[in-house]
Amino acid sequence: MKDLQNKTAVITGAGSGMGRAMALRLAKADMNVVLADVDDDAMAEVATSIIGDGGQAIAVHTDVADSTANTELFEAAMAAFDQINVVALNAGVTGSVGRTWTLSEQDWRWSLGILLDGVIHGIRTFVPHLVDHGDGHVVITASIAGHISSPFSGPYAVAKHGVVALAETLHHDLAAEGSSVGVTCLCPGFVNTNIVTAARDREGADVGSPTDERGDKWLEVSGRALETGLEPEVVGRQVHDAIIDNRFWLFTDEAWDDAIARRSEEIIGRRPPTVGRPTR
Ligand SMILES: NC(=O)c1ccc[n+]([C@@H]2O[C@H](COP(=O)([O-])OP(=O)(O)OC[C@H]3O[C@@H](n4cnc5c(N)ncnc54)[C@H](O)[C@@H]3O)[C@@H](O)[C@H]2O)c1
Repeated sequence: MKDLQNKTAVITGAGSGMGRAMALRLAKADMNVVLADVDDDAMAEVATSIIGDGGQAIAVHTDVADSTANTELFEAAMAAFDQINVVALNAGVTGSVGRTWTLSEQDWRWSLGILLDGVIHGIRTFVPHLVDHGDGHVVITASIAGHISSPFSGPYAVAKHGVVALAETLHHDLAAEGSSVGVTCLCPGFVNTNIVTAARDREGADVGSPTDERGDKWLEVSGRALETGLEPEVVGRQVHDAIIDNRFWLFTDEAWDDAIARRSEEIIGRRPPTVGRPTR
């Protein structure tokens, strides 16, 4: 999409972190923005900021894991702005952490419901409309965790590998259809957001908190790593540019390139996986 002005973007997980940054950047490009999140207060802050700067924004309470909520989001966006052009399927959580065999069925279902089903619902809900009018772009937030493997984060890794596959398949399906709708697969490295803090805040809840001491430690180390990462505003700008340039892959930095290359070499060499780590 070359021209974003007066067009409409729907962004899930828009209350915080990268979703918030995408919303502010796309509003700055004169897009109408539909914010979707489970955190109403956070969305209200983003909407107020956009409207205060003379932009157009609405906030729609949406749990992306719920297919009906996705339909209601689509209907609210259409009622407000008549057409949707950019859809950023970005909402996420760290998911339940711990050893694969200690995670309960509920842990797995909750994590995959948001991280994987959320993207599937988003594609099924919004893409038919984009294909119908042809002037659209889908941004799917995957992760480096969709390309490498690490211990103690099974649901997150499974979901993000699935999300990378979904983005690639969507790209192939649109090409086979001769559609001009673009796809960007956003693969952030470390970005300084609330995602790990939010998981810690859920401690004591039935799901989403560390399920064993190894998961707890993993979350602590991940939290410190994220604090060294990019600021979300940088990613907001990168996403804006990837939409304009119609770029499929968006890696936020190069720190994981060697780890991704090593994984490919291990597969081709039939060697067991080593833990993926950044080089920097
Ligand atoms: N921060 C990183 O280093 C990093 C790295 C790779 C990928 N990611 C991915 O980036 C995306 C955005 O995460 P972030 O880091 O900006 O985190 P964040 O916690 O700052 O923002 C995530 C937002 O998603 C919302 N959310 C959570 N569950 C939801 C649900 N069921 N329905 C709707 N909204 C929901 C939260 O309320 C929050 O506002 C996620 O998909 C995450 O997996 C993050």
